[in-house]
Amino acid sequence: MAELRFRVLAALMALAAVAGTSVAGFEFHEATVDAIQLGFRNGSLTSTALVRFYLDQIARLNPLLHAVIEVNPDALAQAARADAERSSGRHRGGGGLHGVPVLVKDNMATRDRLNTTAGSLALLGSVVKRDAGVVSRLRRAGAVILGKANPSEWSNFRPVQDGWSARGGQTLNPYVLSHTPCGSSSGSGVAAAANMAAVTLGSETDGSILCPSAVNSVVGIKPTVGLTSRSGVIPITPLQDTVGPMCRTVSDAVHVLDAIVGYDTFDAEATRAASKYIPRGGYKQFLKIDGLRGKRIGVPNVFFQGTDDQDLKVYEKHLRTVRQHGAIVITDLDIAVDWADLNAQEMIAMNAEFKISINAYMSDLLYSPVRSLAQVIAFNNAHPIQERIKDFGQPDLIAAEKTNGIGKMEREAIRKLNELSTNGLEKLMKEHKLDAIVAPDSQASSVLAIGGYPGIIVPAGYDKQGVPFGICFGGLKGYEPRLIEMAYGFEQATKVRRQPAFKH
Ligand SMILES: *[C@@H]1O[C@H](CO)[C@@H](O)[C@H](O)[C@H]1NC(C)=O
Ligand SMILES: *[C@@H]1O[C@H](CO)[C@@H](O)[C@H](O)[C@H]1NC(C)=O
Repeated sequence: MAELRFRVLAALMALAAVAGTSVAGFEFHEATVDAIQLGFRNGSLTSTALVRFYLDQIARLNPLLHAVIEVNPDALAQAARADAERSSGRHRGGGGLHGVPVLVKDNMATRDRLNTTAGSLALLGSVVKRDAGVVSRLRRAGAVILGKANPSEWSNFRPVQDGWSARGGQTLNPYVLSHTPCGSSSGSGVAAAANMAAVTLGSETDGSILCPSAVNSVVGIKPTVGLTSRSGVIPITPLQDTVGPMCRTVSDAVHVLDAIVGYDTFDAEATRAASKYIPRGGYKQFLKIDGLRGKRIGVPNVFFQGTDDQDLKVYEKHLRTVRQHGAIVITDLDIAVDWADLNAQEMIAMNAEFKISINAYMSDLLYSPVRSLAQVIAFNNAHPIQERIKDFGQPDLIAAEKTNGIGKMEREAIRKLNELSTNGLEKLMKEHKLDAIVAPDSQASSVLAIGGYPGIIVPAGYDKQGVPFGICFGGLKGYEPRLIEMAYGFEQATKVRRQPAFKH
């Protein structure tokens, strides 16, 4: 019964996707930020029409995909204001993200009628003091806040729950409905893939942008930690948390990155330290068609172990393409990292950092039904059905609650993690003078996470079942300019992304 309903829905959606929507020549499906800005300038598009299109997409697709947790009741008003600003010349024809509808992950605070809950019922009704740093930058850029994307709930970080939250339900992969959309920025990735927003924001601690970008065939940028502010973002650990774009093209992601990077007094230390990496004139200058030329790209074996043979052939083909476009590809590399040790140390540091930072987040709220991690745990136990305690438990929350600040063990773990970065990725990249390493999907996420390093995922192919996979370009802190050059060069040379098929 449920299966039949799925199949009928899926067929309807595929039809709707093909039919498209076009007003006065503007093609809404797959619209890029550049096309949107051109549409605004040549009069074929208004922000209001664009918001209507995405609201319609959400109304039709969300009952199946559960990618959006809340729609902003003020989105149309914001669009009307953007339209008025443009026609009065106050925004001089717009540009950037002006008038562009953005969906933000539900762990990013918005001081408006939208709730900020990270998908958890415990935080429903909490009132934030101010917008998250990245959200206030979006507003200053004139973007329309379309709504909140459904995250994998932070209170239950377990693979089995990828794409699930108590408030938003189970997010589905629009390519293959039975396949996980991956977490935790699943709603953002799915919404971008299925044209439910122009662009989206996700966040990553270890894999949460890279993984859902890969399996939903979108471009995800996980910036150097501190390049984008984490203020007002429901935290896991300040050592690794970072906010970045998830979009249908590299160019769109770069438009978003330009809008959200920079110093924020509420995340002062990290954003000040990383601000030296922000290039004068922003990141768009690195969208170079020949961006692969002369780049030294390393291929560490370890990331490709366990990759399906057929997918591996696709990656090999891509590496040939990358060479043809002038890059120097160095294969058979080793990263001197003890993986078990890495993950163990990461967990030790993360558990303690999570308790400190989540308690700080909750105590800073103007109002909240829960004020501490202990209260969240108690809330989940009191609502076992809604929070699916039987299925998932809450082991990560309980482990974090048991910690007691940054003590000797945590300091030692953090020291070891830094050492792993120095002797691992950093050493490899310096020895071989690499501009990037490549890895399938989010296989490099932990190595990038512990060093605060950036990575960009670009669509790379589809497996036998039609499930998308991606290629990750990763580098050292501040390498965004060259990673963008390579990602854009690769995307333009391969053009892998196609629209979701809603396969059963
Ligand atoms: C305006 O720009 C859009 C691209 O954004 C294009 O599709 C459309 O045809 C253009 N219309 C006119 C009237 O030039
Ligand atoms: C925020 O949550 C409350 C309580 O569930 C709900 O009534 C309200 O509609 C939500 N806001 C939005 C914009 O969805």
